Amino acid sequence: MALIAPSLLASDFLNLGRDCEMINNSEADWFHLDVMDGMFVPNISFGMPVIQAISRIATKTLDVHLMVEKPERYIKDFRAVGADILTVHYEASTHLHRSLQAIKAAGMKAGVALNPHTPVSLLKDTLADIDLVCLMSVNPGFGGQKFIENTYAKVRELKQMIQAAGSAAQIEIDGGVTNANAKALVSAGADVLVAGSFVFNSEDPIATIVDLKKLTS
Ligand code: DX5
Ligand code: ZN
Repeated sequence: MALIAPSLLASDFLNLGRDCEMINNSEADWFHLDVMDGMFVPNISFGMPVIQAISRIATKTLDVHLMVEKPERYIKDFRAVGADILTVHYEASTHLHRSLQAIKAAGMKAGVALNPHTPVSLLKDTLADIDLVCLMSVNPGFGGQKFIENTYAKVRELKQMIQAAGSAAQIEIDGGVTNANAKALVSAGADVLVAGSFVFNSEDPIATIVDLKKLTS
């Protein structure tokens, strides 16, 4: 069964507490929190103060996805506001290996996200240091985009690399996840599915999360 990580980017910010309680009370596994800086991606979302507020009521893992240039500047700050997993982008990190060590030294699990154009083979020499690989199945920056089909091939290739290396890294898929692709993604090797608009734009988010869990079992 895959882990489900609803992305709060698609929540109702005027009712953020209510939406966090919904996740607490659902079968969801993680909170997925998208931080955007307006430089690495064209959009700006939210940052430390909002995550700190969420961490006060969240009863589940906080999975923080940094879509930020030079993310190493903020590793300790995100730990201080409650992040459990911190994911940086391969494309935004000049010294990725150092960042991964710093994330773990700060007490978090270390994730690396790959844009759709970035080959998974580029992770060969850091795989042993990675807890989570986030494969972007849309171009990062916005919720509600169409899933990129080439993601399936990337999941399969990455799964093989992870198995061959004897690594315990989990594979997370982020962008355009729905009940139409969840099952196939897990069959290809995905461990964690992020879902933003599919969960929060549905009539009954709790039931939608149950459906996603069932599809991936
Ligand atoms: C996109 C973000 C995603 C986004 C997913 O840049 O990283 O986490 O919230 O949203 P949906 O599920 O609507 O594609
Ligand atoms: Zn994300």
